[in-house]
Amino acid sequence: MAAITNSRYVPPVPSNLPRSTSTLLRLVQLQEIFQSEYPKSQRPKAIEAYAAKVKTLEGKCLKSPDLETLEKAVDNLEWGIADVYQVAKQTSEEKVIACAKRMLKDAYSLVVPPVKRSYAGLEGPVFLVEYPRGEKSKAYVIKWTNRNECCASRVYDQLSTFLGHPKDGLGFSVPHSMVFDFAQGLRECPNGEVHKLTSEERELLQQNFDALLIQVPFDESREEISPASKEVSPEERRIAVTERILGENLLDFSYTKYPSLDFAQKNKLFTRLGRLAFLDLLVGNWDRLFRIRQESGEFSFENKAEANLGNVMLVLRAGKEPPLVYAIDNAMDLTLVQDSTVRANYLAFLTRLYSDPGFMVDQLASNMVACMKVYALPDFLSGGCQQNRQHAKAHLALFNQDLEQLGYAAFSQGIREMLDCLVKEKGLISLWYGEEGAFLRDHLQGMYPEFLDSLQERLDIFQFSKKEEV
Ligand SMILES: Nc1ncnc2c1ncn2[C@@H]1O[C@H](COP(=O)(O)OP(=O)(O)OP(=O)(O)O)[C@@H](O)[C@H]1O
Ligand SMILES: [Mg+2]
Repeated sequence: MAAITNSRYVPPVPSNLPRSTSTLLRLVQLQEIFQSEYPKSQRPKAIEAYAAKVKTLEGKCLKSPDLETLEKAVDNLEWGIADVYQVAKQTSEEKVIACAKRMLKDAYSLVVPPVKRSYAGLEGPVFLVEYPRGEKSKAYVIKWTNRNECCASRVYDQLSTFLGHPKDGLGFSVPHSMVFDFAQGLRECPNGEVHKLTSEERELLQQNFDALLIQVPFDESREEISPASKEVSPEERRIAVTERILGENLLDFSYTKYPSLDFAQKNKLFTRLGRLAFLDLLVGNWDRLFRIRQESGEFSFENKAEANLGNVMLVLRAGKEPPLVYAIDNAMDLTLVQDSTVRANYLAFLTRLYSDPGFMVDQLASNMVACMKVYALPDFLSGGCQQNRQHAKAHLALFNQDLEQLGYAAFSQGIREMLDCLVKEKGLISLWYGEEGAFLRDHLQGMYPEFLDSLQERLDIFQFSKKEEV
């Protein structure tokens, strides 16, 4: 098995998802069986013994591949296994052999729990999937999400590569996703192509996702926040299967790996975050690195709120390279799509800011410094070992101190760089309006015209009022 470490191997979204979700579902069911039959301390040994028994079973089935042999051998295994593999249905030689091989592969995959639930999201949970499979590892994320997030992620993805013509890039990436829209029976591929699902694919996937949603247990070590029951209409619902970034979100990074960065790496990281934050401001993504508020219809920055550092992922790299930055959980605030008054007010806010770019940079950078401070360790650490907690606290103190000392200048730099990427000749704005932007514009027009309208209105600010150097 290839070891999974921080930065080297990022497995892509599996191409055969119906099969992969069936495997995942079986692994979850097996895990359930072991969880209910054995206390935590005895599980690893029990799984090891199980794998040995399945190895013997496979040997027997290869010798005499008939249902009777399979059924007899399965009788020696833990209760419930026969149902997981629908043993009674394995009525041909080929089926018996395939089933025995599947059982063995699964048994070896069980050494690590195949899926973890992350914090509950607004529309549904986020599942972090990872299990060994022969030479390779499968690692991906399943998120119950919505049309807005899928469109926003496509925008960030395309802009981050200069609409497919990367010159210098924007300093961050977006993990690639396969998106399912079961209301319309569509699959959107990582490259933006949209295909119709066959009825078998649709049925199997829907069935597997529904079963996973019910069967995946809550994480034993973390206190779960129950999802705010916000109803999303079936037309808006999507399930995204995303490549898993093998790193940490910025919050987890801040109290773990942050101190391993040297001065230049920290500066570079903060500069990249400044770039991302400015793009967020433009898109209307209010849930990441800054906070704003509305009072009597007027927008302003809100320095007394906390940012959401969970929506940036970082991957440490070897040597002196700064960490890779990934923008996840991308969305335009829904009011900007649905409420024309809020949209007009926000547009006025941005236009006002942009009329004085120096002021704009100052406002956003100081807000980031104020809101990105981390005041408390996540709950699950409070029960952990005292020494770990002390370390984590010290790391956080350093992160907060660096925000004060390096943050403002580096964020300002990043914001200016992003502004330059947007408005320079052949920059993002001109690409967006040109031929290069046609694919993305058409895609959004087809998927979510109101989203496109709203975004376009804000991009127009930059197109029509060229500004002098900041
Ligand atoms: N592609 C990914 N690779 C690795 N980890 C991920 C990925 N996507 C999400 N995660 C992890 O799961 C956490 C939650 O994911 P995400 O931010 O997408 O949903 P959420 O915060 O639950 O949704 P919401 O913001 O609507 O509440 C992230 O902070 C990150 O730690
Ligand atoms: Mg999030």
